[in-house]
Amino acid sequence: MNAPSNKKSVTAPRRTAATIAFGAAVLGISFLIGAMFRGDHTRTVVAKPVVTQPATHVEEEPSRKLAKMGRLVYQIQCAKCHGAEGHGDGSDAATLKPAPRDFASTNWRFSPNAASIRRVIQSGIPETSMTSFAQILSHTELDAVTHYVSTLAPPVSAVLAPKAESAGLRPIVQQRTAPDFKMTTTDGTAVSLSQFKNKVVLITFWAPSCAPCIGKMPALDALAAQHQADGLEVLPVCVGESDVDVVTASVRGRLNRLKPLIDEGMGAVRYDVLSTPTTVLIGRDGTLLARTEGAIDWSSPALADLISAALTMTAAE
Ligand code: HEC
Repeated sequence: MNAPSNKKSVTAPRRTAATIAFGAAVLGISFLIGAMFRGDHTRTVVAKPVVTQPATHVEEEPSRKLAKMGRLVYQIQCAKCHGAEGHGDGSDAATLKPAPRDFASTNWRFSPNAASIRRVIQSGIPETSMTSFAQILSHTELDAVTHYVSTLAPPVSAVLAPKAESAGLRPIVQQRTAPDFKMTTTDGTAVSLSQFKNKVVLITFWAPSCAPCIGKMPALDALAAQHQADGLEVLPVCVGESDVDVVTASVRGRLNRLKPLIDEGMGAVRYDVLSTPTTVLIGRDGTLLARTEGAIDWSSPALADLISAALTMTAAE
């Protein structure tokens, strides 16, 4: 409120102003008090700044920041082709050949793991409208949009499902971490599944009493040899028999590269092994990909194809 500048009439207007100000203050205070006691929506309006203030001081978690940045980068740089929701139906999509990827489908051209998604965004795909974003996005923005696209992608086990089925395995589409368990070698060395991080692991639970398991050991050994250099670990885990001599005798002359392992007990429990053989395939990231009960043809091209795909699609980060 400005004080009047005319000196001659200083007192009277001042008093008037003071009275008005006082009156306004009283009115204001009684209004506030009234509002507080009434508890109507006027009170909410008055109280609002006090309520929201502490929230503005709370730091956002870095991962939420990254997620937000990823979504933003995506909407600005990618949505016009890949679509607002990632279904490959952006405004520019209709005219493009090949069509932009529908990120939610299992029809990925490259493996949908973070490393290869980043590689595609960074380098682009030659002879397509998918150009390199290396000069357009900062490292952080690349990380953020990679993370965002990863959340749109289906699990690797879903992408691998057709290959698993043709190899005679059941895909495990729901993302689940393979439970850890302990084994021993026939010379008493302790081994645990968690030792094989970053490898594709094929566990086959067998028993000395399982003739088909034993009969197919040489083919299993050959499979292990074929993919070992690429990062496959084959674990022939004996269940229900802890006598080392029995275990050793049952595979004698049948395993060359592989060594039989003996379940300490929890493997059979955690993998619901109700019959032998039971076979489980685990990705490099430690998620369950597929399983089957009953004999598999270890030398089938379909199985080799599944394993090769698992090796590249679950590349170690
Ligand atoms: C001008 C259109 C266009 C824009 C913009 C675009 N893309 Fe693409 N993108 C494509 C096309 C087309 C393909 C499929 C190419 C193929 O299948 O050969 C593709 C493929 C991809 C793939 C590989 C998917 C697979 O199947 O393996 C990824 C990942 C990808 N884009 C991410 C992005 C991201 C992230 C952005 C934004 C930073 C982006 N794209 C922007 C057109 C575009």
